[in-house]
Amino acid sequence: MEFNVAVLPGDGVGPEVIAQAVKVLQAVGGKFGHKFHLHAGSIGGSAIDTSGTALSEETLKVCKQCDAVLLGAVGGPKWDNPLAKVHPEDGLLALRKGLGLFANLRPVKVFPMLINSTTLKPEVIQNVDLVVVRELTGGLYFGQPKKRWQDDGERRAVDTLFYSEGEIERILRVGFELARSRSRRLISVDKANILESSRLWRQIATELSTEYPDVELDHMLVDACAMRLIQRPADLDVMVMENMFGDILTDEASMLAGSMGMLPSASLAGIPKGKTFGMYEPIHGSAPRRAGKNMANPIATILSVAMMLRYSFELEDEAQVVENAVLGVLEEGYRTYDIMEEGKLRTGTKEMGDLIARRIECR
Ligand code: IPM
Ligand code: MG
Repeated sequence: MEFNVAVLPGDGVGPEVIAQAVKVLQAVGGKFGHKFHLHAGSIGGSAIDTSGTALSEETLKVCKQCDAVLLGAVGGPKWDNPLAKVHPEDGLLALRKGLGLFANLRPVKVFPMLINSTTLKPEVIQNVDLVVVRELTGGLYFGQPKKRWQDDGERRAVDTLFYSEGEIERILRVGFELARSRSRRLISVDKANILESSRLWRQIATELSTEYPDVELDHMLVDACAMRLIQRPADLDVMVMENMFGDILTDEASMLAGSMGMLPSASLAGIPKGKTFGMYEPIHGSAPRRAGKNMANPIATILSVAMMLRYSFELEDEAQVVENAVLGVLEEGYRTYDIMEEGKLRTGTKEMGDLIARRIECR
């Protein structure tokens, strides 16, 4: 089969990890006889430097014409001035919105061989295998008004947590469908004791659950969920939540896996059924201090390629081959700096990519 993939390396370690992910994608192509046509685009700080905007019309157009988007990371100290007119992150938000990517899936799976490389007790993180479904194009990130002004000699600012019924329903459906394909348990996370938008969210979740009688729905307050995530994370499975709740809780959840360098993500434009358009990226940022040093862990981006094969190309076998190749290389003891332990083999970004690609080619 043939697919078109937009590739946006972005800033910092983005280009380095993307190079390895592309290598793995081509290895899959070679092995299974698929053709992946790559279409380069720029985003973030590097796009600001060359075109003055964090996401050009041209890049957005390229993405829209492709079957999926592979993204590295955006941002860096060079573009951090809070008073600057454009920020690299604006490009990412514009891309999510522009491509209608409302459903962000962030799986957190603890690899057994990395159980000692986290700050948590092994018995707590053993068997952790959960997915956060984060609403990505609404809520506190996008609600209007969103502005700064001055009144009574005081600086003031407002952000708005707005959701329509349609936005809530479609993300909850992603949660229900995903729960159906896993443990048939769904936790809807909200702050319904305080927020009006959460009360609507909870009501819609309860109403929708009649359409999914095979899925057990629970509601959890977001603060309790933050606690539960480090108290008994292995009990959690699929959780669905508002944009900013998801942003915060997924950074917390990532620590269960030891390093952000291990965690992939998919941002989808629909309920994952059949071939769904999506953007795939590691959940880590541009890590400017590690950039250009062949240090960054490319596994999060490589596992994002596996998600792309699964959700956008409906190539489940190929997705599993990539995931197994990652497991195999970790089992052999290869580690990038972020997951390094005594007695293991310290590996650079490129070498890790080579090892994983070679395992796919030689299987
Ligand atoms: C994430 C990141 C982004 C977000 C930033 C880079 C805009 O933190 O994907 O979690 O806040 O959504
Ligand atoms: Mg975040």
